[in-house]
Amino acid sequence: MLTVSELSASYGAIRAVDKVSLQVPAGAFVAILGSNGAGKSTTLRSIVGLHRPIRGTVTLNGGDVSRLALHQIVRLGMGFVPEGRMVVAPLTVEENLRLSSHAGRGRHAEHLERVFQLFPRLKERRRQISGLMSGGEQQMLAIGRALMTGPEMLVLDEPSMGLAPSIVDLVFEAIVDLHKQGQSLLLVEQNASIALEVVEYAYFMKRGSIVLEGKPADLRNSPEVMEAYLG
Ligand SMILES: Nc1ncnc2c1ncn2[C@@H]1O[C@H](COP(=O)(O)OP(=O)(O)OP(=O)(O)O)[C@@H](O)[C@H]1O
Ligand SMILES: [Mg+2]
Repeated sequence: MLTVSELSASYGAIRAVDKVSLQVPAGAFVAILGSNGAGKSTTLRSIVGLHRPIRGTVTLNGGDVSRLALHQIVRLGMGFVPEGRMVVAPLTVEENLRLSSHAGRGRHAEHLERVFQLFPRLKERRRQISGLMSGGEQQMLAIGRALMTGPEMLVLDEPSMGLAPSIVDLVFEAIVDLHKQGQSLLLVEQNASIALEVVEYAYFMKRGSIVLEGKPADLRNSPEVMEAYLG
């Protein structure tokens, strides 16, 4: 269970996130949606300890993680897939995965098996230099890398970014599989239409604040969402 309460974050004088509150219950699949610059990434980065919020609280399974660093939060069970994937380009697929499992809580072989089952493509290409792979394969690796730490809560920042529609579908099928396995998920997306097909609950952000939230069926019926995000 992830709880974010009244979170605010700034870059100098720019208030990028203003009093954001949200929840991801255990086993749930939740999205933060919104356009360019809405504050989605800043919210996620504040949750995982990569950005120091100016106010607010983040708890993971009841424990306060608001003032912890990323590596500490990962040990407590959070997995983070950053915007832009950020794989270590000169290393192979397997080296990237092994590197990440050091940040986790052991059980390397078990996690590796899970990643290769989810993404057979990564198993085939495990000795491939990561930087030479396609965007879709790098996105699979970025997700696999986060899974190597055995996260209870997996947070993903725009996994669809820059990918062809057919590849986006592939990546999202894998994410849906993870959810079916019981994985708790918090997804950030600009692509609201694909996110609303798969999540159970969504929050819409605009200029740093949550402006709308609900179940996909209700959100799709909202004229506001139709006009601004689903056009
Ligand atoms: N490093 C930074 N320095 C200064 N301002 C920043 C920085 N990163 C983001 N911002 C500003 O903070 C606001 C929120 O940005 P953020 O990256 O969180 O949005 P986002 O919703 O993730 O957008 P996108 O969908 O384009 O990834 C924007 O106004 C942005 O210009
Ligand atoms: Mg972003």
